[in-house]
Amino acid sequence: MTDRITVLDFGSQYSHLICRRIRDLSVYAELVPYDITAEELARHDPKGIILSGGPASVSDRDAPIPADAVFESGLPVLGICYGHQLIVHRYGGRVKRANREYGSSTLTVDGGGAGLLGGIGGSVRAWMSHGDEAEQIPRNFEVIGHTENSKAAAIASRDGPVYGIQFHPEVAHTEKGSRILENFVLNVCKAKQDWTMSKFVEETVGRISNIEGDVLCGVSGGVDSTVAAVLIHRAIGERLKCVFVDNGLLREGEPREITDMFRDNFGVNFEAVDAAQEFLGKLGGVADPEAKRKIVGEEFVRVFSDFARSRGPFRWLAQGTLYPDVIESGVSKGPASVIKSHHNVGGLPEWLDLEVLEPLRDLYKDEVREVARILGVPKSIYMRHPFPGPGLAVRIMGEVTPEKLGIARTAGRIVEDELLQAGLYSDVWQAYAAVGDDRAVGVVGDERMYGNIVMIRVVSSIDAMTADWTRLPHDVLERMSNRITNEIDNVTWVSYAISSKPPATIEPQ
Ligand code: XMP
Repeated sequence: MTDRITVLDFGSQYSHLICRRIRDLSVYAELVPYDITAEELARHDPKGIILSGGPASVSDRDAPIPADAVFESGLPVLGICYGHQLIVHRYGGRVKRANREYGSSTLTVDGGGAGLLGGIGGSVRAWMSHGDEAEQIPRNFEVIGHTENSKAAAIASRDGPVYGIQFHPEVAHTEKGSRILENFVLNVCKAKQDWTMSKFVEETVGRISNIEGDVLCGVSGGVDSTVAAVLIHRAIGERLKCVFVDNGLLREGEPREITDMFRDNFGVNFEAVDAAQEFLGKLGGVADPEAKRKIVGEEFVRVFSDFARSRGPFRWLAQGTLYPDVIESGVSKGPASVIKSHHNVGGLPEWLDLEVLEPLRDLYKDEVREVARILGVPKSIYMRHPFPGPGLAVRIMGEVTPEKLGIARTAGRIVEDELLQAGLYSDVWQAYAAVGDDRAVGVVGDERMYGNIVMIRVVSSIDAMTADWTRLPHDVLERMSNRITNEIDNVTWVSYAISSKPPATIEPQ
């Protein structure tokens, strides 16, 4: 079995990052709710436990406290921020409210760092974000690091492998933070570095090859559904059927690329359903953004269900769900749960009676990209920007008309092309062109023309929760603008969206 580190989540915004950093060491790390029971924890059988940070204070009456088993198991424990204060509290020290400390401090290592802080040098920059601090450390603990404001910023027990650190080793602002996690995971916990994507592929294919019945997988051309499909195809071949619904709202060339990749490249049992006329017909006359989303969603369910009924029966519905979504929905079961038997989600009718197969439910996005690479998925697919389900319908302000659809599609391709040419495509989160009904005057030849305005939007983001407008070089913007007005009829103006999220959103609708 793969060795694992279990991270108890006390609600810090950085909890996922702890797992990410540990997985970078090729050790499997998982995030579980802080109140995991002793039995459940024993079932996970971790090599070590990390207590994450969190917004609470240990002196709150309803402070989140983990099961005693966490401390009584004899397993190595590392508390970070709130987790550090929990350790101080639990072993009889005192935590006091202090002035909120937020930002970089200099951590000085004391007494060699007791293994945890080994190899990071005498002092490093450390990222703090806390309101409480250890006023008195427990008996039989020693201080292994301090900052100007926090005299017990890192502590270690003399009785066993229990450590607390006030700062966040998982964030990039902490110098040598990864080394601290490495010291804990490899040296203290002695976890094996056996979490690799090639092993993941091998084991997942092995597990899926044991399932019975046929699998239906909707593919969109996005990396998640593509990787899920290719992985399942490796395991069960012809028993997987992929369907791609062309809703007429995709990026330029996408339907062709997807069909070529699945059919010719991977030899998958694949069918494309051209439903563009149905989708565009239903969208006729509709200007409200939420109404457009609803129509696209409902139409997809209708087309997909019709397909499932006519080609079935299927036993399974495959989905490209990733680890952060699984954690958010609170149903994580760890790496053994690739095959999850609960009834399907996503608005599909009950009568389809499908069970859900989610081969990527333990992976982060960059791990999925690595799997894609191993499986031979083209880079143009696995590095492509995310694209919203309702497609260009949300990038067209007002009614979706064939004319505006053509403009958004061609202009979007030009934006992507120019970013690729400039070597900037992979540096940004999303990049597209939107169009609405506003017009502006231009001069074409000798004629004044009242043409469309195209809005270019390029944003940088880590998770789409917040986003910053990208400061593209002016010459790149100029080339995009020139090409859009030259190559697309009826476009006279090009604007660049310089609103960040918040208050704006990434998509204009
Ligand atoms: P916003 O516009 O909310 O977008 O800042 C955040 C991320 O979500 C994508 N997005 C959608 N994805 N259906 C989707 O599948 C939608 O209705 C939808 N709206 C926005 C958007 O592209 C960005 O990555």
